[in-house]
Amino acid sequence: MKAVQFSEHGDREVIEYGEFEDPEPGRGEVLVEVKAGALNHLDIWTRKGMPGLDLDMPHIPGSDCAGIVAETGPGVTRFEEGDRVALLAGVPSDGYEFDHDGDETLSPGFHIIGEHVRGVHAEYAALPESNLVEVPEGVDWVTAAASPLVFQTAWRMLIERGELQAGEDVLVLGASGGVGHAAVQIADYTGAEVYATASSEEKLEYAREVGADHTINYEEDDFADEIREMTGGRGVDMVVDHIGAQTWQNSLKSLTKGGRLVTCGATTGGRPETDINRIFWNQLEIIGSTMATPSEANEVLDLVWEGELEPRIREVLPMSETSRAHEIIEEREGFGKVVVKPDSVYDS
Ligand SMILES: NC(=O)c1ccc[n+]([C@@H]2O[C@H](COP(=O)([O-])OP(=O)(O)OC[C@H]3O[C@@H](n4cnc5c(N)ncnc54)[C@H](OP(=O)(O)O)[C@@H]3O)[C@@H](O)[C@H]2O)c1
Repeated sequence: MKAVQFSEHGDREVIEYGEFEDPEPGRGEVLVEVKAGALNHLDIWTRKGMPGLDLDMPHIPGSDCAGIVAETGPGVTRFEEGDRVALLAGVPSDGYEFDHDGDETLSPGFHIIGEHVRGVHAEYAALPESNLVEVPEGVDWVTAAASPLVFQTAWRMLIERGELQAGEDVLVLGASGGVGHAAVQIADYTGAEVYATASSEEKLEYAREVGADHTINYEEDDFADEIREMTGGRGVDMVVDHIGAQTWQNSLKSLTKGGRLVTCGATTGGRPETDINRIFWNQLEIIGSTMATPSEANEVLDLVWEGELEPRIREVLPMSETSRAHEIIEEREGFGKVVVKPDSVYDS
């Protein structure tokens, strides 16, 4: 089969699209004929390499895909040939015994398909059936591939970890990114008052289209000052931050007393200066969040399948142009998700 792959970490030039051994489904696994895959910022980190990341090379990237069940391995009970499926990329530890109230994301060996083990940007992928969800007829492959990782991440951040309530004020940073644009939609769906930031007027226009009530161009204005002004000096109840070092101090400054900062990422660095006095005096909560449990993911994906929430697509490219897909993300071009399809099905 053909697969996106790299044999060493590095710049975009290390990405290739070429022959790779055909995967075979093992016990409890399903062979999926991939119709579309989506990129996440994670694909950039994985390509560049991260401390502690020790990959079997060549590595196939990709943590989002959707396609058709081509074959089932022994012991598979939930799927049969021809079923339409999408991937949930989080994998709990082997033999996990459901402590932590059954929260798989807190299992000690929790890892992500595409990041820690081979991913799915290929013509075929053999995947544990427990990592697959059914995609209803009528949902197109691009939507099915672009939604799972970012919508589950944003759902857990806002709803499960942050416990966002209708009527609260929430600030979503980086509203043009995958997680950001999902967070804006979920906050709006919840009935919160949504403030969103992005780096250009065009991106802010999109943010308003998907549900932002108030927008701030943080390249032009100090977003913490703007939030104070827009909320009559009060600040917001929740900040959704996946940008990290560059925004951290202003995220804290944007919160009202007792506010919550929910973080899932640190695109601009993970070691910001912080203001401990502000945290204790204003009794702020700092909440970490990663991926989601299958039941949380299913809850939000049902809303996507029903059309209540919807991924916006920056571009759909053949997998042989994955390097360009990385460029779009790294250069912060556009709004929403970048999707790749195997070259053999690109035109279908
Ligand atoms: N913990 C988890 O489970 C989890 C899950 C998903 C993602 N994440 C993390 O969350 C972050 C966002 O992921 P994503 O896939 O949504 O990324 P993305 O689609 O690339 O979006 C990132 C957004 O951040 C903004 N940004 C601000 N400063 C930036 C900079 N210096 N470089 C790049 N972008 C910058 C950009 O918006 P503007 O151009 O408008 O500023 C961009 O749209 C990543 O760090 C990712 O690893 C974590």
